[in-house]
Amino acid sequence: MGKDVIIACDFDSAEKTFAFLDKFTGKKPFVKIGMELYYAEGPAIVKELKRRGHKIFLDLKLHDIPNTVKKSMAVLSRLDVDMTNLHAAGTVRMMEAAIEGLTREDGTRPMLIAVTQLTSTDQESMEKDLLIKEDIAEVVMHYAENAKKAGLDGVVCSPLEAGKVHERCGEGFVTVTPGVRFADGDIGDQKRVMTPAQAKVIGSDYIVVGRPITAAEDPVAAYERCVAEFCD
Ligand code: C5P
Repeated sequence: MGKDVIIACDFDSAEKTFAFLDKFTGKKPFVKIGMELYYAEGPAIVKELKRRGHKIFLDLKLHDIPNTVKKSMAVLSRLDVDMTNLHAAGTVRMMEAAIEGLTREDGTRPMLIAVTQLTSTDQESMEKDLLIKEDIAEVVMHYAENAKKAGLDGVVCSPLEAGKVHERCGEGFVTVTPGVRFADGDIGDQKRVMTPAQAKVIGSDYIVVGRPITAAEDPVAAYERCVAEFCD
């Protein structure tokens, strides 16, 4: 499994997505399709980006009863994406059902990773709203271990947690980390950020980068800077 930079294509239409990706002449970056773009354009956008030769992380964060997640994952597996995800909060049983649904008849399946606690949830909101009294770092690790137990390939986590996840779940357990910013860039609404170079040192396997690339004056140069810092 190689390290890679995944561009978060957080656009609300196929048109804007194509206009953005057309700037990358000759290059086919790994892209993330999240809820915004998927709800706007449906499976057609996945099929088209696949046809154009991009690897795809379909970031729909499933969370429902095991039977529903299993059947939904079976449908998503037909889209032939490279990576997809769910909420670890759905329990080990739900994650096991997801793997079953996602696995095709020939035994292959996309990578499946779990969201632990969203980075927008902090200790206070977790205690107050979710009535979880444990330390948030420990909750994240426990959810990662549950994901591993269920047979998932890894987790989405803050780059600050990636090293710890590898310690607890093994080096082969994949960490996908958003919250990446250039040392000289705006951090926007992300709170705990790291540069691509720091994410490499700490052992992230994939970084997910949105606005530092999509909102850059020269998105291709920004992408190449990420690749140079993180992959080379
Ligand atoms: O623009 P920016 O680089 O902040 O985009 C980060 C991407 O990663 C967005 O698509 C955001 O939804 C996603 N993400 C995140 N934090 C998480 C999970 C996903 O920022 N915990």
